[in-house]
Amino acid sequence: MDVTPDHEPAAASTPVSRYASAPAWRAVDAFFTHALVGEDEALVAARESGARTTMPNAEVAANQGALLGLLIGIAGARRMLEFGTLAGYSTIWCARAVGAQGHVTTLELAPQNAHVALENLERAGVADRVEVRIGPAAESAQRLIEEGAEPYDLVFIDADKPGNPAYLAAALCLTGPGAVIVIDNVVRDGAVVDAASEDPRVQGVRQVVQDIAEHPELEATALQTVGVKGWDGLLIARRR
Ligand code: DHB
Ligand code: MG
Repeated sequence: MDVTPDHEPAAASTPVSRYASAPAWRAVDAFFTHALVGEDEALVAARESGARTTMPNAEVAANQGALLGLLIGIAGARRMLEFGTLAGYSTIWCARAVGAQGHVTTLELAPQNAHVALENLERAGVADRVEVRIGPAAESAQRLIEEGAEPYDLVFIDADKPGNPAYLAAALCLTGPGAVIVIDNVVRDGAVVDAASEDPRVQGVRQVVQDIAEHPELEATALQTVGVKGWDGLLIARRR
């Protein structure tokens, strides 16, 4: 089986990666996604609308979106906070998982992306339970802290990677015991192990890993993944 990563162009509605991904990895993702996950029209439309955002193809894969939904269900999370909305693809998964009585706050830097996301949330039937806040995510999170926002049960950090340490710090102000924190893109084609990397995104990941490791209330693990999104990974932490 060919597991050599490549950059083959994908068919119109096939998710593509910002990183190299092998045909075999994509075939396995397609198998499980088809068998277990599925995407309705609203999710497909949201994924495809990523092309109209400032960062096409950066949304999570379908099976990763389903993982977020499952984590929300397992944790019994009703309030969810997301750093980095883009087209709202993962937002839809999370908004569906928190249920009609739940709430999602999602933070997006670019008005253009937020506009696309609002259309997608509307189409998915979850706009009523999602608030999109536009602006630098650290500032939006600080405002939530100042407003005394009710604690969130699950936080997904998936915005600019240099911001990860600030987003974790804000998440810790906006959560209580039992909260789950998930961070996307912690492997980045293996670059995470390069301590000398001059890429601020890599350093943003390395710093947040260290902050979590040193935090007495956080237990965590990280898993590397391969698939339609290339070689990357997710960190999952829980607050004691
Ligand atoms: C990038 C960011 C993401 O959140 C992602 O899932 C993939 C790539 C990026 O910064 O390139
Ligand atoms: Mg991501």
